[in-house]
Amino acid sequence: MTRAFRGPEGQESTPYLLTPGPLTTTPAVKEAMLRDWGSWDADLRKVVAGIREQLLDIADAANGFECVLLQGSGSYGVEAALGNFAPKDKKTLMLTNGAYGERAIKALAYMNRDFISYETDELEAPSADEVSALLKANPDIGAVFMVQCETTSGIVNPIEDIAAVAQKAGCVVILDAMSSFGAMDISMKRMGIDVVISSANKCIEGVPGFTYVIARRDLLEASQGMSHSLALDLYEQWSYMQKSGQFRFTPPTHTLVAFAVALEQHAAEGGAPGRLARYKKTAKTLRDGMRKIGLSPLLGDNETGPIIQTFATPRDKNFDFTTFYEGLKKRGFIIYPGKLTKKPSFRVGNMGALNWEVMEMLVDATQATLKEMNVTDLTPAE
Ligand SMILES: Cc1ncc(COP(=O)(O)O)c(C=O)c1O
Repeated sequence: MTRAFRGPEGQESTPYLLTPGPLTTTPAVKEAMLRDWGSWDADLRKVVAGIREQLLDIADAANGFECVLLQGSGSYGVEAALGNFAPKDKKTLMLTNGAYGERAIKALAYMNRDFISYETDELEAPSADEVSALLKANPDIGAVFMVQCETTSGIVNPIEDIAAVAQKAGCVVILDAMSSFGAMDISMKRMGIDVVISSANKCIEGVPGFTYVIARRDLLEASQGMSHSLALDLYEQWSYMQKSGQFRFTPPTHTLVAFAVALEQHAAEGGAPGRLARYKKTAKTLRDGMRKIGLSPLLGDNETGPIIQTFATPRDKNFDFTTFYEGLKKRGFIIYPGKLTKKPSFRVGNMGALNWEVMEMLVDATQATLKEMNVTDLTPAE
């Protein structure tokens, strides 16, 4: 049965954002932005200090690590981290199995830093054994960069195994945990991860506006003068923040206060394990429901994470992504086009203020939209 359009709480007439971000946020997160804040004011500095402390806690990085907040989206954080921590006199091993690994490589190339890339198929995780072999064969590698959940497909890479071999080889381990931090297990101490990057509008469920980098303090201290960029220099941002409690340049005030509320809600849900449990249930409802109506997830249940699900585009000649998208939108759901280079696909994100019931409604809406489009052959397009 097709249910009527029903948007999220507090914004019932707008669709759910089932995307990799920005996401649907709670009314409390949105309400936090209704007040204006002075950037120099002690109240805002308190908010900034609280955020930094709580992020360290979530990363299991309370001692010996620092959290630097930086204006901009996640890509700014990735580029900043590479600028400060990818060595100039050695190579960085760049692991890639999707668009975000590729973007990081591009950022490194812009800086003229040396790297070797290890590429696997978009639907295949990298192997720790292969990383180990590459590190043995190339003793001039000084850092390893990898993505935890490659949001291109939703695949989860084996970060713990790779970090272990990288650490054994004495490399700095840099992790893009953009779409996984705050839900999936990340313990910087236990896993031997030196640098983690994420942003405000992913699993913590804030709104866009800043990125954050958590890094070993000794590495941060040693990174003075490393950055290729004034605005992205994490050492400068950190030392200014340490001295003044403030951002160097205009801070994203409303995003910060919204994020502080999002962090409270994150803690109330049971922190990362609580959030992961919700996302897993949401993802399972989605995958099971889509399978039931005949659509095929592109990754197996063991390879996909709970963050985003990729489905094969149906082969039927009547299927057109834009019509499908509009059909879902008018029923209350915004999905995302696929980003895979080889297989036609579409994506549905699980992050944000939503749960499994929303996915049940989405499955109904998908069925109704396909019927309206007269799409009957749901076998995957080539
Ligand atoms: C894994 C990963 N890395 C990097 C990025 C880039 O972040 P942004 O689009 O916020 O610049 C994203 C965005 O979704 C991502 O999922």
